[in-house]
Amino acid sequence: MSAFPSLKLLFLLLPLLLLGCFLAAEALEIGIGIGSTEPAAAPAPDECGDCPPPEPECPPPPPHLPLISDSLARAATVIRRFRSTITDDPKSITKTWVGDSPMDVCTKYRGFFCETPPERKDLTLASIDFNGFSLVSYGINVLLENFTDIALFHANSNNFSGPITPKIANLRYLFELDLSNNKFSGEFPAAVLQVKNLDFLDLRFNKLSGFVPRELFLKPLTVLFINNNVFKQMVPKNLGSSPVRFLTLANNGFTGSISSSIGDAKNTLEEVLFLNNKLSGCLPYEIGFLQKATVFDAGGNSLVGEIPVSFGCLTKVEQLNLARNKLTGEIPEVVCALPRLLNLSLSDNYFTSVGPLCQKLIEKKVLDVRGNCIPGCPSQRSQQECYKFQCSEPVNCPCPPTPPCKLPLLQLALLAPPPPALSHVPSKASYSALHRP
Ligand SMILES: *[C@@H]1O[C@H](CO)[C@@H](O)[C@H](O)[C@H]1NC(C)=O
Ligand SMILES: *[C@@H]1O[C@H](CO)[C@@H](O)[C@H](O)[C@H]1NC(C)=O
Ligand SMILES: *[C@@H]1O[C@H](CO)[C@@H](O)[C@H](O)[C@H]1NC(C)=O
Repeated sequence: MSAFPSLKLLFLLLPLLLLGCFLAAEALEIGIGIGSTEPAAAPAPDECGDCPPPEPECPPPPPHLPLISDSLARAATVIRRFRSTITDDPKSITKTWVGDSPMDVCTKYRGFFCETPPERKDLTLASIDFNGFSLVSYGINVLLENFTDIALFHANSNNFSGPITPKIANLRYLFELDLSNNKFSGEFPAAVLQVKNLDFLDLRFNKLSGFVPRELFLKPLTVLFINNNVFKQMVPKNLGSSPVRFLTLANNGFTGSISSSIGDAKNTLEEVLFLNNKLSGCLPYEIGFLQKATVFDAGGNSLVGEIPVSFGCLTKVEQLNLARNKLTGEIPEVVCALPRLLNLSLSDNYFTSVGPLCQKLIEKKVLDVRGNCIPGCPSQRSQQECYKFQCSEPVNCPCPPTPPCKLPLLQLALLAPPPPALSHVPSKASYSALHRP
């Protein structure tokens, strides 16, 4: 399923809706035209007293055809050319690609949608939605180079491959690009950085490798999904410059520590997944600035040190996963006091103690502390293992400044009645990005 079913549905329907509106508007225009020509047909007597009576047999109005953009006019030819690059079509999608007229393309061809862009009068090929079509092709550049008016290009779950054309930079309306779950390999397709109005970029589940350009984090995107590729590099230092709301770097080979610049994303970042990389170092205190964050997931890395008390400022956080790292010390009570917490996953670390609030969360199964070094908790590591770790890996995380918010008074939190148990954990956009679309 898509990460944003409702959004995608909207965009899927949009072209149809707009086409519908377009036709309705045409009809309206014709209607108005008829209405306004009637009085004009009877001229005022003083202007021209002896005019011949109006011609009884009016010439029929010219057929009111929509204006067609150049790219739509050539669409059938371009699509035929693209079709010749398809080596497998198990769902027989291309069987619907018959007819040579632009209107055939707009109304019959599966995957192609027409609409009139804002501020224009001509109908054009405005979006391509091949999601789940399972087409095998190396030729999508034929589409990207010829359909220069597209706003959406959704092509998840095909077997598309090959380099992405630099001419993608010419797609001035392109707003959403979803190439997830395909066979793209090699370097990050740097050309997408030049797409001026891009807002949604989904490249997850490919075989992209090497470096993610730092410019990516300067682009004004809302969604950036690059999880499940083979990127190998330090976490970009300018990560926090990105204004994205949803960011998934999970299941790659990112190394180094989480940049303290992440605090710069405090007004935008809602969900971030660093899950299953090779991150090391201490958790930066600046994570506590992320006042919009509902999901923070850095599980399955090699992070060390304590959880900064600043995490107690993540007042919107629902999912906080730091499981499978090398974190130590006491689990901060302020974290267990976070008001929206649904799942605090800290298993398989080296934590050594919990206070009464965290104890309550363990009982409610919100907090998972299995596989740690906490005396008295079930399913802990052996004493030997804990002792060995404490002696072998001294950790010096910087002593953090005072937290960026006023932390709750824990005594009061302890007295407060527990919030009602939630029967299910809502699925979040970034977590659904971890599954193949
Ligand atoms: C489509 O784009 C390719 C590459 O730019 C070009 O060679 C080809 O002539 C175009 N096809 C049509 C039918 O316009
Ligand atoms: C397309 O990709 C899927 C998933 O990797 C694979 O199972 C399938 O065999 C591929 N199809 C072809 C025709 O290559
Ligand atoms: C809590 O989060 C962890 C890590 O993401 C996940 O493995 C676990 O299934 C979640 N638990 C619940 C009850 O959703």
